[in-house]
Amino acid sequence: MTGVAEARTCRHISVRPINPAIGAEITDVDLGRELDAATAAEILDAILDHLVVFFPDQDITPDRQAAFARRFGDVPEVPDSMFRVHPDNPCVSVLENDAERPPTVNNWHSDYSFAARPDFLSVLHARSIPDVGGDTIWVNMYAAYEALTDPMKAHLAGRVATHDFMKLYERPFKRHLWKGERFEYMEAARLEHPPVGHPVVRTIPETGRRALYINESFTRNIEDLDERESASLLDYLFEHIRTPEFQIRYRWEPGTLAVWDNRVTVHYAVADYHPRHRLMHRVTVLNHEAPQA
Ligand SMILES: [Fe+2]
Repeated sequence: MTGVAEARTCRHISVRPINPAIGAEITDVDLGRELDAATAAEILDAILDHLVVFFPDQDITPDRQAAFARRFGDVPEVPDSMFRVHPDNPCVSVLENDAERPPTVNNWHSDYSFAARPDFLSVLHARSIPDVGGDTIWVNMYAAYEALTDPMKAHLAGRVATHDFMKLYERPFKRHLWKGERFEYMEAARLEHPPVGHPVVRTIPETGRRALYINESFTRNIEDLDERESASLLDYLFEHIRTPEFQIRYRWEPGTLAVWDNRVTVHYAVADYHPRHRLMHRVTVLNHEAPQA
């Protein structure tokens, strides 16, 4: 962990930071081939340093994408609920939007923070990208935490927040997911994910650094605070993470594969491209244990 955004050529890959705070492009690697252990270790180091990394021009199948993700942890089969499952691989979710399916992921979130065992990494492969629009924004939640004052850090220390699947999926713009044959899938997801408590500030074992772990989509309240105290504090934190200096906004190209650490980022898929077509394949990598404070 260098904590410094500088271009470097590792023994097996080239890493070029895009912003000082977050984001790097990795070249000189073909993800269509099985990675050796040293290359996989350098990629993991780059993820820990830059939080989201991008591999341009990767022509890979869903099976290869899942095999790549498996180098970094457990890759679960995905339920057919919020997103369709790819017919060739049960671990690959299909995120597809067009004229009939307007994009609705324009809300700040960390993937699966509502789960008792949230995602560690997300691995997203761009298959079809609109000619304009469809960017994604990520936030460095280490930077967001570190920019808080010491009294605010002390106020948040040891606090637990409730994350709730239904905070997002009960909202009117998600109503289309609860119709027809999808209802039973969504109901199963709801029952599988009752509200769960996670630390508001997490210490990441590999880096020893603290990061904020809240997001507007799923963080319902901060436990032990009065309802209005909790709402005011969360509103402040949700606004705080919108600070441009903590962020990267990335313009996708077809074939780019992104990997990000959900423990220390939140992201937002800009929904400005309707009715154009956008198709992404997503694989997730599970953390080995629930978040620890
Ligand atoms: Fe997401």
